[in-house]
Amino acid sequence: MSVIIDGKSLAKEIRENMKQEAEKLKEQGIVPHLAVIMVGNNDASKVYVRNKSKACDEIGIEFKEYLLPENTKQNELLDLIKKLNKDKSVNGILLQSPIPKPLDIQEAFNTISKEKDVDGFNPYNVGNLCIGQDGFIPCTPLGIMKMFEKYNIEIDGKKVAIIGRSNIVGKPMAQCMLSKNATVTICHSRTKELKKEVKDADIIIAAAGKRNIVTEDMVKDGAVIIDVGMNRNEEGKLCGDVEFEKLINKASYITPVPGGVGPMTIAMLTANVIKAAKLQNNI
Ligand code: GUN
Repeated sequence: MSVIIDGKSLAKEIRENMKQEAEKLKEQGIVPHLAVIMVGNNDASKVYVRNKSKACDEIGIEFKEYLLPENTKQNELLDLIKKLNKDKSVNGILLQSPIPKPLDIQEAFNTISKEKDVDGFNPYNVGNLCIGQDGFIPCTPLGIMKMFEKYNIEIDGKKVAIIGRSNIVGKPMAQCMLSKNATVTICHSRTKELKKEVKDADIIIAAAGKRNIVTEDMVKDGAVIIDVGMNRNEEGKLCGDVEFEKLINKASYITPVPGGVGPMTIAMLTANVIKAAKLQNNI
């Protein structure tokens, strides 16, 4: 039987720590403040943003939402980001992805000042992660690293297979694992023999956004399985990228969906906002 990694309770523990950090900042007259920009009407994004807002409220982080219409122009989006960059009361800026097709999201991420880039998507922070310097690390990989720390799961020298090469999860996850001396394979939609690449891995991180992409026959006994997927099954129930029920007796550690990686992502966002507030106030 695997150990089921309890992301929900670890996230709660982190949020409690962040609440104390926020209180300490308030004693010094600093109210941590996150600005969130959403463009258009994406139902999934609305749910994510609502959950981020709830976590910030609980901790005492001021949360301001900027809802831009579907037909927003690139320069209007950039102007809002530049305004928030200049606003000294704002410590963190998050542009919720995705945004409508004609807009260039990377140009928008590049415009977020590196000191307020709590998602870690600005090339300056991406670069810092690559060369092992301190900066903002994207929240999902950061949350997964916290899980490894909490459960004392060894990474050094291990074989890690990551499924998915997004800028939000797959690529920064690979850098995090590399920084802990893992041997990393990144698999993606053009990988020819996925099973062959994954079968040997000590640690599997599934971030493909495809239900059941990790099947029982792909996993070696005792592997650690981290499921970043957020999919819906035929009944509309939330499920991950991994055949959870079939792997629960094969993996050494496994994350559930829901209650695994998801809550950790949000907790780490609040941690990044607190970090930004401290850095901007030389604390
Ligand atoms: N969309 C899905 N995940 C994320 C995330 O971590 N940050 C942002 N900004 N958008 C997302």
